[in-house]
Amino acid sequence: MNDFIILGTDTDAGKTTFALLWLQLFADRYEYWKPIETGESDSDTIARLVPGATVHPPLRRFREPVAPPLAAKMERATIPSARLVVGAMPRALNENKALLIETFGGPFSPLNDDELQLSLIKGIHRPGVLVTSTRLGCIGRTLQTCTALRSQGIALGAIVLLGPRDRYAEEVIQQHAAVPAIALEPPDEWTTPALRACVERQRSELERLHEMWGKLPACRDIGDDDRRTVWHPYTPLLGADEPLPCVGAVDEFLELADGRKVIDAISSWWTILFGHRHPPLMQALAEASQRIDHVLFAGVTHPYAVELADLLLGTMPWQGGRVFYSDNGSTAVEVALKMAYQYWCHRDQPQRTRFVGFEHGYHGDTFGAMAVSRDPLFFGRFEPLLFQADIVPLDPGELAKHLSKHAQQIAAMIVEPLVQGAGGMVMHSPETLRAIADVAREHDVLFIADEVMTGGGRTGTLWAHQAAGVVPDLICAAKTMTGGVLPLAATLVAPKNVEAFLSADRTRTFFHGHSFTANPLACAVAVSCVRELLKHSMPAKRIEDFWTQALTPLRGSSIVKDVRIRGSIAAVEIEASGGYLADVGKRMKQTCLDRGVFLRPLGNVLYAMPPYCTSTQSLQRIADAMIAAVQNA
Ligand SMILES: Cc1ncc(COP(=O)(O)O)c(C=O)c1O
Repeated sequence: MNDFIILGTDTDAGKTTFALLWLQLFADRYEYWKPIETGESDSDTIARLVPGATVHPPLRRFREPVAPPLAAKMERATIPSARLVVGAMPRALNENKALLIETFGGPFSPLNDDELQLSLIKGIHRPGVLVTSTRLGCIGRTLQTCTALRSQGIALGAIVLLGPRDRYAEEVIQQHAAVPAIALEPPDEWTTPALRACVERQRSELERLHEMWGKLPACRDIGDDDRRTVWHPYTPLLGADEPLPCVGAVDEFLELADGRKVIDAISSWWTILFGHRHPPLMQALAEASQRIDHVLFAGVTHPYAVELADLLLGTMPWQGGRVFYSDNGSTAVEVALKMAYQYWCHRDQPQRTRFVGFEHGYHGDTFGAMAVSRDPLFFGRFEPLLFQADIVPLDPGELAKHLSKHAQQIAAMIVEPLVQGAGGMVMHSPETLRAIADVAREHDVLFIADEVMTGGGRTGTLWAHQAAGVVPDLICAAKTMTGGVLPLAATLVAPKNVEAFLSADRTRTFFHGHSFTANPLACAVAVSCVRELLKHSMPAKRIEDFWTQALTPLRGSSIVKDVRIRGSIAAVEIEASGGYLADVGKRMKQTCLDRGVFLRPLGNVLYAMPPYCTSTQSLQRIADAMIAAVQNA
């Protein structure tokens, strides 16, 4: 069974009539809630005409039959924000039932002084039935509403045409809206027996709609199919925790099939930047998808890729340079490694076949990325297949010692600036980073900044390397480039390195490319994402300040080895053996989940990295969950 929301093309479209018909037939499966009411109460009408229905009281009810903010003003009252209304959404009293939520007016009716009802519909995030009346103008009215809803990322499961049957309208709407359309007639009079008779006459239509509902992705129990067919990343095939069945995502929340809303406190593997379905990004996606889908990027270009490259290069510590696109963090790293080696080939130093990485470093799961990461647990198995790389402690002195012996064989060193993520959220200072960059420069070794995790302002500055005032030769970006909406990556190349490739000699081409290089939809979203980032200076500061104060109690705990905070990232390292495989990780994850917070410890390191939209209340819930997890560790 599946919650759903009744939307109308406008006032008087027939939303309550539909709710009456539905509940008359399915009162044993659905409960009713209309959060905001004005004028005659629809909740009372439902309770009166369908005595068996469970009706949840509205959150706000006003006497005057006018727009809710106006009706509220007339009573010197206000209407809460969409976020608060969503927060007040009841759960069905009977766990086997779902909720039928009725909206007021049309989706674009005002909700309060600041928001349209659209914000509420998005926040409720349930599949929608659009009810429309068959009176004259039905086709245009319905299709306009569908288009407007789609452009806002609101999915419709069905359209209900209420009123005297109009087969032409049904056909045209179904054809152009590409959503099943169902025709229903209202009862002859507003009494329970008339309603019952009306439902009996149209039982098969209502049942057909109910059946369709059951087939929507959100309604199916996918657990069994998942276990049978899917292989998840970094997850053993036996003995792993059940994956959370996620049917939606909004702001800092993941919405689960059982109605729970858990806080996505690690931003879905560090990708989600502002919050799930951040409106400007979804808008950019919707607009671009009206024009283009995917086009190859060899011999073809598009405005989104060019605009994005311009924006990205504008944030670099150099003038000029180029952007090479790919589609995930590992490929951005592969590109950087290959480019670094080919650079030296073009400079007549092909003997520079080695790379330097750092202890605790992680750069991805493809072969080149594994070679420069060398994590014994993740990649030890593949050791015989990996190319040469030297892994040294992240210390300028150690690097200097190594380079003074081997610099002539080394193409580049690669580092995650300020925070080594997957290696356990290990942090170093801007001074250390600067000293390391200086050592590389002194020995004429290229400097690759892997900003796949640290980009997007996570550590405080737009790029982490900026905090140290250093100038890398190559910068890898991915994860947050599209704010987490779509996969996209880029390797940003400094002018000096580009210069080595400026040749018409085709053998000097950089022979690398992926089918989805510079996917236009992803680039369109990334343009919007970079613009958003440039609007807000230091978006992580609020979260950093919060962690500094809220996680203080952990600093005194005898089992806490270290508390590390940088930008929006907070990590707590527990005294426990076993590293990434430490059992304590599993226990801490469960303690947090029991408190509605999704965290995924790196073994004995519990960390949070929530999206920027995360409310102070949610931050507090994350901090409380982390403290409880450490106490129960
Ligand atoms: C610093 C860093 N580089 C590269 C990668 C690989 O990115 P992807 O998982 O998109 O391949 C990651 C992933 O966590 C990362 O943290």
